[in-house]
Amino acid sequence: MAAILEIQRLAKHSWNQDNRESPYLFEEVSAVIQQPECISVIGPSGQGKSTLLRTLALLDMPDQGDISYAGISYREKDPRLWRKEICYVAQQAVMLPGSVEDNLGTASRLHGEVYDVQLAEQLLEETLLAGLDRKKNASELSGGEKQRIALIRSLLLRPAVLLLDEVTASLDNISARAVEHMLQQWQAREGTTMIWVTHDLEQAARTSSRTWFMSGGTLLEDQQTIDFFRQPATEAGRQFVRFLASEAAL
Ligand SMILES: Nc1ncnc2c1ncn2[C@@H]1O[C@H](COP(=O)(O)OP(=O)(O)O)[C@@H](O)[C@H]1O
Ligand SMILES: [Mg+2]
Repeated sequence: MAAILEIQRLAKHSWNQDNRESPYLFEEVSAVIQQPECISVIGPSGQGKSTLLRTLALLDMPDQGDISYAGISYREKDPRLWRKEICYVAQQAVMLPGSVEDNLGTASRLHGEVYDVQLAEQLLEETLLAGLDRKKNASELSGGEKQRIALIRSLLLRPAVLLLDEVTASLDNISARAVEHMLQQWQAREGTTMIWVTHDLEQAARTSSRTWFMSGGTLLEDQQTIDFFRQPATEAGRQFVRFLASEAAL
């Protein structure tokens, strides 16, 4: 394994200064990420998990610190090329105008690549969308369908790093498991590094070998998943695991 991403003392200022002890949404986030690797990101909402992922994809810019991809700082790279390698998949999928087919093909064409229709079909099948009308207007899809189309659209670009933001959150259990399985197979085949925000502890345990726990305005714990779930190192981590476990039991 080789280091693919290196995050050094990354910080993002907070917009809302009221009621906050710190001027940062998060600060002092440092980590070295190997290829291939799957990292789960968990933590209470509002901790900046989505913002961290968006910052890693340069959809938001860092306020302090540095991010390097394959040893080169983001400051020295064209953000467009960066985003082709490090791709963020949002929780709320945004469809491009046009049909399902247009949505799947456009991203590849915009990036100057051939649209691999065979691969798109395979991924539709693996995410239980084989029966979806390819001519249907994408704006008419359900939230869960949009989420899967957005994910496939990103995979077709074959990024080196996939940043997944609760990508199974609006799916029923069966579809969520299908997507999870598809992503695991994709990782095994393509060697893609994945950083995956989830609220599902079992999903985190199934898919990742490493877990990041964001709390208190920073990356509070960075541990092997098995160690984190067995025994978080911090009181905040322990409380959060107990909270999620009690929610899952409901
Ligand atoms: N610089 C910033 N960028 C994004 N969100 C910010 C920022 N500063 C403060 N916020 C607030 O912090 C929260 C960030 O949440 P988000 O990144 O979505 O966290 P999470 O994904 O952990 O729920 C939001 O409520 C947002 O309004
Ligand atoms: Mg979020």
